Amino acid sequence: MITTNHTTAEELYETLKNIKVTGSVCQYSLRKCEEMTPLINEIRDLKEKKNAVILVHSYVNPEIIYGVGDYVGDSYGLSKNAMETTADTIVFAAVRFMGETAQILNPEKEVLIPGLEDGCSLADAITAERVRALRQEFSEYTFVCYINTTAAVKAECDVCVTSANVYDIVEKIPNDKIYFLPDELMGQNLVKEMAKRGVAKDVRYFEGKCYVHEEYDTEQIFKIRTEYPQAKVVSHPECKPEVCDQSDFVGSTSQMLQYMETTDAHQFLMLTECGLSARLQKEFPDKHLVGTCTLCRYMKSNTLEDIRRVLTNPTPRDRVVIDKEVVQRAKKCIEAMFEFSA
Ligand code: 13P
Ligand code: SF4
Repeated sequence: MITTNHTTAEELYETLKNIKVTGSVCQYSLRKCEEMTPLINEIRDLKEKKNAVILVHSYVNPEIIYGVGDYVGDSYGLSKNAMETTADTIVFAAVRFMGETAQILNPEKEVLIPGLEDGCSLADAITAERVRALRQEFSEYTFVCYINTTAAVKAECDVCVTSANVYDIVEKIPNDKIYFLPDELMGQNLVKEMAKRGVAKDVRYFEGKCYVHEEYDTEQIFKIRTEYPQAKVVSHPECKPEVCDQSDFVGSTSQMLQYMETTDAHQFLMLTECGLSARLQKEFPDKHLVGTCTLCRYMKSNTLEDIRRVLTNPTPRDRVVIDKEVVQRAKKCIEAMFEFSA
């Protein structure tokens, strides 16, 4: 039996004890840690046995991030981790489009997705067929897709972007006609940001929305600012433009964490999924959250039990399988992102 990488319930509790997000859903007692520890250690053994790596998005439950995860981050960072790993198997605890991105970058590796609800309201908003029709209508435009799209959609587009690099990449694209998809709110934020930077671009965008981020409004911000005048408001570019305008910082989930780490403030209103609030409580215990956060049902469908299942007995649905021709075309679109970011 492999025991070198095991944790104890006490160590796990020490790691997770400061996390208190969304009532009892995300709080850890020593008892709860005692119950989770055997499964966490079993997964750690399975990882070694299979030469597997577990990539975890920041929105996923903390016992996965801190119990079994090898890398945690935003979509951009995780796709770089996926590109660089030497493991034979990648378990992607996030949503399907992220697992697909890992598979496109590693066609020879096995990529497994434990989440049983692995969709995303943005990735589900547009099909490859619709992109083909749009390309006919807007034939002079460069098609830029958000990473929150399926492999089939990426295969129809020119450049992929994430929330961490969307503005910089669009600014660098030589064509001044840009069709951005599928996020309408990020598209509106993109138009505003290009105008702010003095970059003349004709930007059109599709009408998808993230059901988590579209909920936030300026009322919440005004209320919090009245109650906590020192609080910094931190939001994601999937939020409405008026919400981003009223925020102190807007960025990808990793950039949001970095902002909190490097700013002197102690109170933060985080307008994003609760997983990031949990990471803030774990990693910066002297900083405080004000207001509430929201859950993404897709990210939260990842469980330790399902990670064990995909590592021991994966079903065909757990394995990411993408048509070879789609992989080749989607890879060009993702590689264009890395080239523009270099
Ligand atoms: P990040 O790339 O900023 O982590 O965003 C991913 C996502 O799905 C946000 O809703
Ligand atoms: Fe998709 Fe929104 Fe969930 Fe992110 S938070 S995975 S964009 S549904």
